[in-house]
Amino acid sequence: MLSPLLLLSLVAVSLASPLGRGLGDFQVKHAWDAVPAGWEYHSPAPADHVLHMHFALKQGKFDELLRHLAEVSEPQHERYGQHLSKEEVDALVAPHPDTLSTVEGWLAAHGLDPENAIHRSSSGDSITLKVSVSQAEKLLDSKYNVYRAKDDSEYVVRTMGYSLPEALHDHINLVSPTTYFGGLQRMKTTSFVEPDAPTVESADESDFAIPPASCNTVITPECLRVLYNTAGYTPSAKRTSLGVVGYLEEYASNADLRTFLSRFRSDLAGTTFSTVRVNGGGNNQSDPGVEANLDIQYTVGLSGPIPNTYYSTGGRPPFVPDSTTPTNTNEPYLDWLNFILGQKTIPHVFTTSYGEPEQTIPKDYAITVCNRFAELGARGSSIFFSSGDFGVGGGDCLTNDGTNVRRFQPTFPAGCPFVTAVGGTVGTNPETTVGFTGGGFSNLFPRPKYQDAAVTGYLGAIGNSNAGLFNNTGRGYPDVAAQGRGFQVVVAGRVISVGGTSASSPTIAAIFALLNDYRISRGGGPLGFLNPLIYSTARTGFNDITTGNNPGCGTNGFAARAGWDPATGFGTPDFVKLQALV
Ligand SMILES: *[C@@H]1O[C@H](CO)[C@@H](O)[C@H](O)[C@H]1NC(C)=O
Ligand SMILES: *[C@@H]1O[C@H](CO)[C@@H](O)[C@H](O)[C@H]1NC(C)=O
Repeated sequence: MLSPLLLLSLVAVSLASPLGRGLGDFQVKHAWDAVPAGWEYHSPAPADHVLHMHFALKQGKFDELLRHLAEVSEPQHERYGQHLSKEEVDALVAPHPDTLSTVEGWLAAHGLDPENAIHRSSSGDSITLKVSVSQAEKLLDSKYNVYRAKDDSEYVVRTMGYSLPEALHDHINLVSPTTYFGGLQRMKTTSFVEPDAPTVESADESDFAIPPASCNTVITPECLRVLYNTAGYTPSAKRTSLGVVGYLEEYASNADLRTFLSRFRSDLAGTTFSTVRVNGGGNNQSDPGVEANLDIQYTVGLSGPIPNTYYSTGGRPPFVPDSTTPTNTNEPYLDWLNFILGQKTIPHVFTTSYGEPEQTIPKDYAITVCNRFAELGARGSSIFFSSGDFGVGGGDCLTNDGTNVRRFQPTFPAGCPFVTAVGGTVGTNPETTVGFTGGGFSNLFPRPKYQDAAVTGYLGAIGNSNAGLFNNTGRGYPDVAAQGRGFQVVVAGRVISVGGTSASSPTIAAIFALLNDYRISRGGGPLGFLNPLIYSTARTGFNDITTGNNPGCGTNGFAARAGWDPATGFGTPDFVKLQALV
């Protein structure tokens, strides 16, 4: 329905001069200096190619949302734990009526009717419309091309830069797809198969140490239950729930979970999970994914019978340059966020094992996505992300802003201050930093207040080491850590060994699902956004990891130390200690 206000503005817009439209000259919103690494120009985009174009509108009271988030997440605050409902969050993020009328008027002047949107968020802060390349080029003063991925032959339709009329910069946070190339091969899963690692089949079964010495190299749910002190706790199936977010056509197999549980958690035999398909995501049970199976087997294996849901998020069917078939080229994170924020009831814990170098993400895209995680936190959900598998940075670590200098390369979304980033450890006696664990400091997100003391303490202790290679005012990560090597996973009926911070994130997520279950059983609520808690009263609930480092970019990276460090955060969880602290 058009509001009266909107009708007035439509009239105003159509009376204005056709090009100026009263919105001022175009100003660049985001542009790259060079085609992003890993991509090359292929051809101009066909003018009639249809994009599913997403407009993220400026949210009316986002600062107020952040104030609520801080209050309900701060253990000392009187409002601690009083999370907001979907309706309350929607009211805070709803755009100001001026924003709506200005944006809708601008779209209408370009022949785009917001009434025909493919999707509109319930708060009104996001509109997705079908827009042809020729319309998009006029709308955004841009030039869309087909770009080809160098390492496989995937194609995307993107632009090197885009602009908006001056007056719209105050009303629109992001238009996509534009300059975020992302692409399937860029959004790497953070797990890898370890073909030479020992597996349970080769472990010594007559080992009675606690945890068994075999846990030094071969991780099973039993190892994690002993190491992180959850073995004595039995959760209910009714109080809380956990979500695993998957992308890249990764499917979690029911049959493999059955095999896994009968082999490693026979007491949970028969426990299942549900799959929710988002944005055309598939669920091919004959095509199990290593990442998907790793995630779901360890979340269920550690948190069962707490209900677990696997979100299979459809990505971006590859663009075929010679076909006239329009393809959905939306961005996976935004599609999932739009979906989940539209649900009234959502899991209390989410884990996602995907990430990519922060410098490949346009700033407007990164901030829009990160702020949506803050909305989930305000609603009482804890959001875990793997910290990445390349230490302080993979590859040559050269900057892509035209300066071409070597700098540590932080990971997105781990560097978003509204998620809890999870690093990796290895070994049990002692447990130490695993060398590949992602850690460091964001260049996009400044250091949040909750970690001021912890991070300045660390920076003071390391003096000039790595000076100039990282941003000492940025958000430091990871926040916590868990085992990251030698996970036994069943894939297509066979046990294989998998490593990566991809394994660490579901492990921590499951343990916090148990903590939610415990808290709710005592009359409390879910923990919600965790970092203010982790950096204050809960910090002593972790086993501090004080050895090892995370090399990368031709350096030794950061060393773990007593207290917080950008290798393992505060360390690995001790469930029994955490129970007493939450
Ligand atoms: C499911 O996966 C199997 C194995 O990769 C494949 O042969 C089959 O074509 C897939 N089915 C569909 C409907 O995509
Ligand atoms: C360092 O971080 C700050 C705060 O996030 C940011 O404003 C600044 O641009 C960053 N510097 C570099 C060189 O990336």
